[in-house]
Amino acid sequence: MTAPEPLVELTTTVNGEVVTATVPARLHVADFLRQRLGLTGTHVGCEQGSCGMCTVVVDGEAVKSCLMLACQLDGRNVQTVESLAVDDELNPLQQCFKEQHALQCGFCTPGMLMTATALAHQGGHPSREEIREEIAGVLCRCTGYENIVTAIERYFAESVERPADEAAASLPGGAR
Ligand code: FES
Ligand code: FES
Repeated sequence: MTAPEPLVELTTTVNGEVVTATVPARLHVADFLRQRLGLTGTHVGCEQGSCGMCTVVVDGEAVKSCLMLACQLDGRNVQTVESLAVDDELNPLQQCFKEQHALQCGFCTPGMLMTATALAHQGGHPSREEIREEIAGVLCRCTGYENIVTAIERYFAESVERPADEAAASLPGGAR
């Protein structure tokens, strides 16, 4: 008879809300978000770190959530795609995706948005080449890369034009 899987307690902040849970030690973050918290905006593709569909932001960094255990979230800050729109209003990054037609089937879109969000958390204004490099870990099976890169480039270009506090407020996951 196999021993029952050990359970682990964790307290984490997800999209600004403190969450306490008891989870199996081997539960990964993507399943925790989707199955325990109902945050199904985080998509799951390969579950082995190759496709990037499951990318979320943990403490400001893009993380493939199928490669991280939920118990590792203890004490950390998680941001998922659900945090971006407020009251059904798209945030500036999502708006750029919409206006640049940066999605086709949309399956990779949460991963792309959260990768770009992590890039925005780093500050600065990445070049097109740097944006390409950053999103290289997220595969778009519809091959819509040109428009995706243009949307992210436009987001950063427009953030230069926004006044400082407005830009901070509209930073994905920033002060609101
Ligand atoms: S589902 Fe996580 S990288 Fe593919
Ligand atoms: S829009 Fe279909 S996978 Fe990227």
